[in-house]
Amino acid sequence: MSRITPDYAVKCLSRGELVALPTETVYGLAGRIDMEETLRQIFTTKDRPFFDPLIVHVADASAVRPLVKTWPKIYDVLVEAFWPGPMTLVAPKSENVSSLITSGLDSVALRCPRHPLTEKILKDLKVPVAAPSANRFGHTSPTSADHVEAEFSGQVSVVDGGDCEIGVESTVLSAREGQKGQWIVEILRPGGISRKQIRDVLQKAKVSAVIERAESRVAPGHLKHHYQPSSPLALVPSEMQDSEVAQRYSDVGILKIQWVTLDNDPKMAARALYQLFHDLSAPGVGLAFRVEPFHHGEDWEAVWDRLNRAATYHWVTP
Ligand code: TXA
Ligand code: MG
Repeated sequence: MSRITPDYAVKCLSRGELVALPTETVYGLAGRIDMEETLRQIFTTKDRPFFDPLIVHVADASAVRPLVKTWPKIYDVLVEAFWPGPMTLVAPKSENVSSLITSGLDSVALRCPRHPLTEKILKDLKVPVAAPSANRFGHTSPTSADHVEAEFSGQVSVVDGGDCEIGVESTVLSAREGQKGQWIVEILRPGGISRKQIRDVLQKAKVSAVIERAESRVAPGHLKHHYQPSSPLALVPSEMQDSEVAQRYSDVGILKIQWVTLDNDPKMAARALYQLFHDLSAPGVGLAFRVEPFHHGEDWEAVWDRLNRAATYHWVTP
């Protein structure tokens, strides 16, 4: 029996066990942050290398204080606008945060998830949890309880919170104060909150900031190949002939091509993306995503980032 109730999840987590929890982005494999053995288990269950740091999930913004050494003032504006929600903020860590969580870095990534079941679980547990996406390292993240069960063959207990509303991971940000009071906001991983949403909120609050895309050295799924479905995935420009793609796929032993057209709306496309990866992958099948010119641009940053990392064949580039 791997489906458990929220109340039972609190019991399991408090004993130091791992539980997969629903969030608005993807399901997370959660364990309390104050037990070293539990933290170690998160990495071993996922086959995740210890150099890839975890996100700490808190019940509300007040739970952040003991976990950080300093807190960039700009984060108060972002928290006010986006928490609970798909935004992860990186700040200098306090000694209360195990270096297992941060992979030895002196910063910690923090997020307050928005899902009624998980919000209640975190409140009742009274201890934050570390929670990477509930999939084996490099694989597609789960957006339903079924995905989690399939990934771990029913060996991981999961709270079923339905299909994830956002469908791609949180946006990971790091901010520092530059010259003349101007903030430098680095997007380490594009995600559920778009660059435009961040810019609008900062402008409205009259915070002077530049927003940059930075490839994190430590990489949230920042490895070139990540989020990969079990079938090979190709990105195909709209003008390319089907036969050309079929020829290339047959050269690598793929005989059936599953064509995919992305939704016109970036939010809907993000919500469906991992579901498509999961549903359409099958032995001997190659996925081919037709990419239209309008799939590029600010609102498509997260979808494009995931497609790019998931793809084995790139017949179209950013
Ligand atoms: O939406 C999400 O963020 C989901 C749900 C479960 O909350 N979680 C998630 O976790 O995507 P994960 O472990 O798959 O990706 C977290 C990424 C890691 O790849 C890691 O590199 C980055 O966040 N990260 C964690 N701590 C960091 C730090 N101190 N500095 C920079 N990046 C960090
Ligand atoms: Mg992940």
